[in-house]
Order: sequence, then structure tokens, then C-alpha cells
Amino acid sequence: MKIALVSSKGGVGKSSLAIALAVEGVLRGHRILLVDGDRDQATCLTWAETAVAHQQPVPTVVGLGAGMHQPDQLPRLAADYDLTLVDTPGRLGDVQRAALITCDVALLPVSPSVTETWALAPTLAVLQDARAIKPALQAVLVLTRVNAATALARAARDNLAATTLPVLRSQLGARVAWMECHARGQSVPTYAKGPAAQELTAVYDELMEYARAEEAAPRRPQDAAGHPDRPPRRRGVRAG
Ligand SMILES: Nc1ncnc2c1ncn2[C@@H]1O[C@H](COP(=O)(O)OP(=O)(O)O)[C@@H](O)[C@H]1O
Ligand SMILES: [Mg+2]
Repeated sequence: MKIALVSSKGGVGKSSLAIALAVEGVLRGHRILLVDGDRDQATCLTWAETAVAHQQPVPTVVGLGAGMHQPDQLPRLAADYDLTLVDTPGRLGDVQRAALITCDVALLPVSPSVTETWALAPTLAVLQDARAIKPALQAVLVLTRVNAATALARAARDNLAATTLPVLRSQLGARVAWMECHARGQSVPTYAKGPAAQELTAVYDELMEYARAEEAAPRRPQDAAGHPDRPPRRRGVRAG
């Protein structure tokens, strides 16, 4: 399975989640490919260098750009792995489009606030464009940076209903372990023992469940992504 982590915003936790899922997979003995599609930040590549220097578990990590959809790039590389995770830049463009048309699932991390839900609109538009090329592309939201005890967290799932996309049952809390773990090339599965690690495990399990269900009975193409009520799609953001 190939999963692209996408959003039209930086700082939502795409790279951290891509790395954590990759490390979780390595710890489980799965063959994992982590693709860094964010040439400017190169978070995954930099993390991998740090992890190697500190002798931490690492998946195979490669940097690929807007040509990753070409048959001799990601499709060929990914064939040797059980799970491929593609980290993309926090802006819409050729790399996100290439990742989406190459992957089976788009995973959209989103934190629980109404403005974050509104900010999904351009990403949903790009998803819709990608589905015109790849109708089988699935998309799923995952709540992250959740402060579980707040009313905001309770309202988040209702707010996200407007997108019409499924939301993973498991969610990731706002936890300091996510900010601390990378310094010595670790990630949440190797750094944290408590809730942060348990939540990540649950997200990984649910994604695998999703993949198995998909293989057993491919769903019909999801309906075109709905759009949150406001704001309307921004001019100039839509992928051409
Ligand atoms: N669940 C979380 N709780 C707290 N901080 C988080 C969480 N996920 C990510 N972060 C922090 O948020 C910041 C941005 O994360 P990053 O993965 O770089 O986002 P993106 O790749 O979407 O730009 C980092 O400092 C990271 O440590
Ligand atoms: Mg990033």
C-alpha cells in the first residue's frame, strides 16, 4: 500500500506522522519505504541521517520530486516494500499531485479547530483533481494534536463531517513526545512509552485494517470530496 500524507498547510504534523508510521512499520518487521517529497524542508531525509548517526531503526528513505509518478520512479521502487509513505510539502503543487496519483490512500492530518477544517478546502480540491486521473484514490482524515479533554476535540468530528471524508477512529493527542523525539533520530514509537506511542500504534493498526479491507473488496471510487461550507475555494490555489 502507498499512502501520501497531504495538506495545503505546513506544521500540521505530516512529516512527524510519516516518520512515526515508518518507524512503527520497521519495528513490526514490515518492509517500509519513506519518501521525502519536501525538497525545501527535507525533514524525513534529515531525520534519517540523524537516526543512522544514533543507530536508531530506520526505513529506506529516498527523496523524490514532481516526477515521482513516472513508472521508473515511485511505482518501481515501491514494488519492493509492504508499505510506502510519501511525505509532501505543505503547499499544493506538482509534488502533491504526483504523490496523489501514485498512491492508494491520501492521509490528511488535521487538528481540531474549525479554521483547520476550512483550511482543508484547497486540499480537497486537489484531491478531486487527482481522482479525475485516479478514481480509485481513497482519502481519509486523521485528527492530530488533539487535547482530548476539550469541547473543541469533541466538536472536531462533527466539523469534519462537512468534508464527507472518513475520519480514522484513532486520533493523536497534542503531546510533547512528538516535539522531543526527533532530536536523537528517534520517533514516537521508539521514544515514547505512554499514550503518544499507544495512539500511534492504533493509527497504524487502523490504516492496515483499511488496507486489508481495500484489498479484499475494493471500494467504489469515493464520492467527490465535499467541501467545508466556508471559505470558498481560493483563487490560484487550485491545481491546474
Ligand atoms: N501530535 C503532536 N503533538 C504535538 N506536537 C506535534 C504533534 N505532531 C507534530 N507536532 C509538532 O508540530 C511541528 C510540525 O510538525 P511537522 O511534522 O514538521 O509538520 P508538517 O510536516 O506538516 O509541516 C513539529 O514541531 C512537531 O514536533
Ligand atoms: Mg513536513
